[in-house]
Formats: sequence, C-alpha cells, structure tokens
Amino acid sequence: MKKNLIVANWKMHLNVSSASIYINRFNKEVPVHRNIEVVIAPSFLAIQPLSLEVDHRKIKLAAQNAYFKDEGAFTGEVSFTMLRDLVKYVIIGHSERRLYFHEDLETVRDKVSACYRNGLTPILCIGETKAERIAGETKRVIHDQLITALSNLTAEEVRGIVIAYEPIWAISTFQGEVAKPQDIQRVIDFIVYQISELYGSKVAEEVRILYGGSVNPDSVSGYLALENCDGALIGGASLNYLEFAKIINKAYLIRGKE
Ligand code: PGA
Repeated sequence: MKKNLIVANWKMHLNVSSASIYINRFNKEVPVHRNIEVVIAPSFLAIQPLSLEVDHRKIKLAAQNAYFKDEGAFTGEVSFTMLRDLVKYVIIGHSERRLYFHEDLETVRDKVSACYRNGLTPILCIGETKAERIAGETKRVIHDQLITALSNLTAEEVRGIVIAYEPIWAISTFQGEVAKPQDIQRVIDFIVYQISELYGSKVAEEVRILYGGSVNPDSVSGYLALENCDGALIGGASLNYLEFAKIINKAYLIRGKE
C-alpha cells in the first residue's frame, strides 16, 4: 500500500529559531502515524539544524528548491548534492518558481534528473493558471509540464516520483479560489492516464499524486477522499503547527487505518 504524504511547504517563512520552536510544539501534537508520511519543507537555512532536531520516524525533511548542477561557480545556488543526507524530498517546479524565477519546462526537467542523480525523491509540482483554465487548456498544460519533466527518467524512476497537482488559481497566495474536489478528480485522472500511456499502468498505480491549493483542516478530507489522491501539499495552513497537526490527524482518520 502507498504511504500517504502530507507536505508542509513553509515557503520564505519561519527563521531558524521559529522553525525549531514550531517543531518542538508540533511534536507534542502528532503521534507517529502508520501509513502517513509527514514532510516539512523549511527554508534552506533551517534544514540543517532541523535535521538534528526532528524525530525522523515522525517527520521527513524536504527542500523547496535546488539547482541542477552538482557544484561549480553558480553564485547563490544550492545543489541537490549538498542536500544529500539532509533531506529525503525536494519540491521541484513549484508555480512560484516557474512564475517569479522563470523556471521553464527544461529547467524543471533538469532539476528532476539531478534530484534522482543524487538519490533524492522529487515532489514535482504541476498546475495551470486561471487564464489557462478558462481557455480550456488545463490538459495541454498538464501534459506539457508532465511529459517534459519526466522525459529523462527510466520507468523505475518514474515509479518513485511524487506529483503535486497545484492549480495556480487555487493557491492561497494567488488569492486562490477553493477548488471543488470533483474538478481536481478530473485532472488527477488525466495525470494517471498520461503516466500509464507512457510507462504502463503498473507504474501509474505506484506514483503518488498529491493535491495542493488552499488546503486546510476543513477541506483536506474532501481531497483525500478522491480516487488516486495520495496526500496534500500545504502552504499557508502549514505555518501554524496546530493547523498542520489537525490536517495530519484528519488525514489519519481517512487514510491511516487502511
Ligand atoms: P497554499 O499553498 O496551501 O497556501 O494554497 C500551496 C502551495 O503553494 O504549495
């Protein structure tokens, strides 16, 4: 059975000391849940201190980004190689990276390859803008993002990937609308279809697909009830340890006992 994944994307919030306080408090709210993997993606600065503090049975760490070259003269960048032994996952292709830092399809593809090359697991974010949605282009956008990002991988590598479907129109920081679970189901079905067309249905069954976009303790159950939705990627609501703990405990009620 696939482990469900609940991921906190802290974005550019929580400095080293607030991250440490959060983790201490959060630890008391959440037991180790079988079948639910809790992942926290802090800022680069907080990764190293947190890696010494967290209970690794309870929390896995992720980076929010990394550069695709392993080392060299790339001022200001952090490589996947440098993250080895510190994190298990790296978020790649988040819409904020694509929009604000101009990451194109090929950059995201190279980051996914670099992630595997360094023994880490990508959480690949894909999703369409509001304008693309209104223009009926959701499937084309998802297809292009997915196919390019996976193009250098073996079927075995694709099997282990985590894909986060995050429609940009539903992300809280872009004044997100609350997405209806049935709209999300259609896109998740399409992602599964695309992967099975390319790599076979066995691989498609094993890929974990998350939903992200304004998920909170009230809405999480509706998304986790969807077929082939294996977890959630949470931004705003993960900044408060009590809210994030509530989300995890709700996820456990739905999925943990399966
Ligand atoms: P949100 O962010 O939960 O605040 O909408 C999700 C994300 O951007 O990953």
